[in-house]
Amino acid sequence: MTFTALTSSSVSTYKLYINGKWEQSKSGQAIDIQSPYLYEAIGKVQAITKEEVDEAIHFAQKAQKEWADISLQERAKYLYKWADELVNMQDEIAEVIKKEVGKSYKDAKSEVVRTADFIRYTVEEALHIHGESMRGDSFPGGSQSKIAIIQRVPLGVVLAIPPFNYPVNLAAAKLAPALMAGNAVIFKPATQGAISGTKMIEALHKAEFPKGLVNLVTGRGSVIGDYLVEHKGINMISFTGGTNTGVNLAKKASMVPLVLELGGKDPGIVREDADLQEAAKHIISGAFSYSGQRCTAIKRVLVHESVANELIGILKEEIEKLSVGSPEDGSMVVPLIDDQSANFVQGLIDDAIKKGATLVTGNKRERNLVYPTLLDHVTEDMRVAWEEPFGPVLPVIRVSSDEEAINIANESEFGLQASVFTKDINKAFAIANKIETGSVQINGRTERGPDHFPFIGVKGSGMGAQGIRKSIESMTREKVTVLNLAE
Ligand code: G3P
Repeated sequence: MTFTALTSSSVSTYKLYINGKWEQSKSGQAIDIQSPYLYEAIGKVQAITKEEVDEAIHFAQKAQKEWADISLQERAKYLYKWADELVNMQDEIAEVIKKEVGKSYKDAKSEVVRTADFIRYTVEEALHIHGESMRGDSFPGGSQSKIAIIQRVPLGVVLAIPPFNYPVNLAAAKLAPALMAGNAVIFKPATQGAISGTKMIEALHKAEFPKGLVNLVTGRGSVIGDYLVEHKGINMISFTGGTNTGVNLAKKASMVPLVLELGGKDPGIVREDADLQEAAKHIISGAFSYSGQRCTAIKRVLVHESVANELIGILKEEIEKLSVGSPEDGSMVVPLIDDQSANFVQGLIDDAIKKGATLVTGNKRERNLVYPTLLDHVTEDMRVAWEEPFGPVLPVIRVSSDEEAINIANESEFGLQASVFTKDINKAFAIANKIETGSVQINGRTERGPDHFPFIGVKGSGMGAQGIRKSIESMTREKVTVLNLAE
């Protein structure tokens, strides 16, 4: 495949994908994509114009009508082929993900494989979704001669906007259900992540989907974001990203179904009866994998004061063993996506230390590489108790009861997930029932997968539900056809 990018001097310029063709934007402008750890541009993506957005949506609308008419089994063949092509391209795509968003090669590769699995499961799930029928006479006065047939039908053109941290997986997690449900897609990748997204579309192109069904539009969100969101040709929006952007998007999108997966401040609640070694293992993996750049990262620990010293001791020891450095070395803690993100995390650490938090380990920085940082005795007046760092800093708040932990957990503006660590299953459920999040993990780290589980953010963490079946449902609506039999 040589058509996706133009190679000039040292870096490639990747193209738009509109109506099945790789195109350069008429804007004549391209955006540099800087690697977060190579500190140089690794490529450029097109800055699309509004007119080109109109064209892409026009082609999508056209393609969707025919796509909705083809059988599920036919749609399945295209998606299976796409999954196969992703697997064929896994090394190449993983290399791009690594360079573009600074994720270790191993994690990048599992992202691609997870994506192929996701697509295949989506196909199978969609093939097994059935409609229902209702008899009229179950309602008082209703007649047996009336029968409602309820089917799920596509919404039209879905706008898919994934974040930088899973530029392939969270993109396909929107595209695959949209397509199996009979929709067309306008795919707007995060700017940082757009080359990985382009590679994913390259695999899709190889699967020879109908022209115009999936269109890749790249450009600065600040320039085309609102235009896309407010566009009359968009019938559904699936967005994963920051809470501020999501809230802004929800204000702009009128009368269009939305699924938003936004930020989080997932607490790890550690009861006095928890297995502390196990809890620490899950907390560390939850908090520091990919430098905490996951919406589902554990972003605060609420620990019972009677076991706090012991837990802190284990956490310190284990955190100091974490690999820190370049994704090229397979490090777990890697440079953050950009300097601004690192400055933000540093601001949270500085504020906490100034207000009296104890620095247990970390607070070391090399440019945008922030070392894993553990803060103890964090109190509610500190920003790090409430704000989402999206970086490798873990605040510990000591509590004296389950009730206090639940209250602090629920005071957050976010409500994505929470973990509860305890040996008492009854207490675990009692706490889980009171926590205001989409999911609660008992004795495990907060995470989205396995990908067929419902994935839900409440409060500032989003609206609607993802997870394979839920995503298909969110990208369809029910259509009722009523059969009136002659009596
Ligand atoms: O940040 C995106 C979110 O969906 C995280 O996914 O699989 O790392 O829990 P995961």
